[in-house]
Amino acid sequence: MSAGHPLSVPLEPPTCDDRAVWDVWLSRLELPAVTVADELGLFSLLAQGAATAPEVAARLELGARGAEALLAVNAALGFLVQRGGRFGLAEPARHFLLPGGDFYWGGMLQRDRFSALHQDLRKALGRDAHPEQEPDTRLAAAWASGQIDEAQARRTTEAMHAHSFPAAMGVARHGDFAGVTRLLDVAGGSGCFPIALAQRYPGLRCTVMELPEVCLLAAEYITRYGVAAQVDTHGANMFTHPWPRDYDAIFFSNIFHDWDAPRCRHLAQQSSAVLPSGGRIYLHEILLADAKDGPLPAALFSMAMLIANYGKQFSFGELEALLTGCGFVDVQATLTYGYYSLISARKP
Ligand SMILES: C[S@@+](CC[C@H](N)C(=O)[O-])C[C@H]1O[C@@H](n2cnc3c(N)ncnc32)[C@H](O)[C@@H]1O
Repeated sequence: MSAGHPLSVPLEPPTCDDRAVWDVWLSRLELPAVTVADELGLFSLLAQGAATAPEVAARLELGARGAEALLAVNAALGFLVQRGGRFGLAEPARHFLLPGGDFYWGGMLQRDRFSALHQDLRKALGRDAHPEQEPDTRLAAAWASGQIDEAQARRTTEAMHAHSFPAAMGVARHGDFAGVTRLLDVAGGSGCFPIALAQRYPGLRCTVMELPEVCLLAAEYITRYGVAAQVDTHGANMFTHPWPRDYDAIFFSNIFHDWDAPRCRHLAQQSSAVLPSGGRIYLHEILLADAKDGPLPAALFSMAMLIANYGKQFSFGELEALLTGCGFVDVQATLTYGYYSLISARKP
């Protein structure tokens, strides 16, 4: 984006949500989820009897995240059914996905084992089974070390802005920010959430805490949308640098889904340490069902995190347990826009 002229009027939200674009974007992972399950023998395994995710992980030598994502996507696609925590075959899998069956689609599915995404998913599942192995994408390494180059920062920030700005407008319209006066957006990317919130709440002050290279880009967006009097930036590595205080709300969008459990706990504990009593934490995420059998966009997004990052999509129950484990109370979730929910909790 070029900074251009500041826009003097608040932006109107889109008149529809963006689920149609999300569906197309995520659909690329549907076929690999099935071709990899076919190659691993998931359907044959479940033909012997329904199994829990840990049982599938043990039998197929998968990690917990990998088994969860593979089962969730195949359940959401209608190939598996989940009952009481056990996954079994649904009719379409019984007819078309069992090797040796008269109507087995294997001949066709096997042709896709050479696709880049099939290979990426296989590699990611292999890594996930060995937690000491890091994701091998350059971006994941840059984020973990806090060292990002300028071109990487620009590419990622532009992509994240496109992906998140509509949802930011939804958060500003439908989230509950009553009583919030100063909000810290941790790893806030382009600043799209503070921009939307500042336009909606003229009395609100926000700070985008980001890697320094990304702060430079966020400043351009903040100027472009005319909210520089309300929104500033703070360059920091969120894992190694001290966090600023004086905020009554800490906001994370698409951050917990990037990281493993210890790093998510660290982010929640750090939030609790710098918030005053009564302060709020917000997590903006696409939620998996507690049964981990969908919905399809959350399951596919979780698979994307498995391939590229350390994280996964969480269920509300998992986030509630994480936040209460770090001392937060009153954990609530509201659907704010498209597939996204805003989870909030209070420091007692
Ligand atoms: C998935 S993007 C989310 C951006 C934004 N919150 C959104 O929802 O559009 C993850 C963001 O985390 C930032 N990030 C990654 N590692 C970081 C670190 N160690 N310290 C601070 N920010 C980091 C990246 O620069 C990136 O903007």
